[in-house]
Amino acid sequence: MRVLGIETTCDETAAAVVRLRPDGSGAIMADEVMSQIAAHAAFGGVVPEIAARAHVEIVDTLIARALAQAGMAAGDLDGVAAAAGPGLIGGVLVGLMAGKGVALATGKPLVAVNHLEAHALTARLTAHVAFPYLILLASGGHTQILAVRGVGDYDRLGATMDDAIGEAFDKTAKLLGLPYPGGPAVESAARDGDRERFALPRPMVGRPNADFSLSGLKTAVRLAADSVAPLRARDVADLCASFQAAIVDVVEDRMRMGLKLFRQRLGRAPEAVVVSGGVAANAALRAALARSCAEVGLPMVAPPQNLCTDNGAMIAWAGIERLRLGLADPLDVPARPRWPLDPKSERALNNKA
Ligand code: KG4
Ligand code: ZN
Repeated sequence: MRVLGIETTCDETAAAVVRLRPDGSGAIMADEVMSQIAAHAAFGGVVPEIAARAHVEIVDTLIARALAQAGMAAGDLDGVAAAAGPGLIGGVLVGLMAGKGVALATGKPLVAVNHLEAHALTARLTAHVAFPYLILLASGGHTQILAVRGVGDYDRLGATMDDAIGEAFDKTAKLLGLPYPGGPAVESAARDGDRERFALPRPMVGRPNADFSLSGLKTAVRLAADSVAPLRARDVADLCASFQAAIVDVVEDRMRMGLKLFRQRLGRAPEAVVVSGGVAANAALRAALARSCAEVGLPMVAPPQNLCTDNGAMIAWAGIERLRLGLADPLDVPARPRWPLDPKSERALNNKA
């Protein structure tokens, strides 16, 4: 089975072709990603209209390139998967309509993929992780802890009530005069900093749920920065190190609670702990999670970085996972700017993408 995947929910335009191997894992035959970071950098964040226009300009080229790289014509595909949300509606429409066009022209089945489901299933593409597993999805738009029971079967154990973790990194960077996206800039400044210098809060730590709240931390960083202004390079490094240490502590605690909730709800331990999303690039965070997983004897799986950030291969893979279960969508399937993975969850927190 060979499926085309199209991703346009945020600021990356991507198209990929993934093949299902006989052993049940996936092989990436082509993976084209065009980041729009440069177009948004001057604004310190993603501008939806600029994003949508940039997707329109490039999506068909990327699809053609992905097919060429895979050595295939559109008619050779077994299905077309396009992210149908959650995300910025202008962008989502571009990719979904492109996918519908290819599906209509070739007569192949269409899968309208939930972008969060694609992030959640990526660990099965590369590491063939078995269900059920615990996952931390952390990027610029989403922060959730999920129990992944199976395809389309998720329990949201926790989510952020305000800022996503990547967003907190981005806002901290902006405040300190570092470039966008903030995660890599803050991490690199933190390397030379003193994590003990500023006593920042660890919001939600110790609470009997797996939720996050990061806006208070953001305010604390601002107050700490004000207290030593004007900022010298050393102050910026120390603020970054102190902020990152707070985030790492919070994530470790929230994942510990997530694991506890997982055991309670599923009556068993997960097969693995997966960490995904752009924030999974953070080495301090990865190291802390790897350590706490080792303590409880669970494998930690982090997909390769290019598959943690937004990409087309994860959409194609989610399409394969659905198609092999017979789950295709009609050509009039709508785009969904908000689309919770776990509709049973009462609070529709943080369904941005
Ligand atoms: O998954 P992603 O590429 O896009 C979406 O938001 O969907 O994630 C981007 C986010 C940005 O907020 C960025 O600052 C953050 O991931 N990020 C990091 C690091 N690299 C990227 N955050 C912390 N440390 C990093 N090394
Ligand atoms: Zn994403």
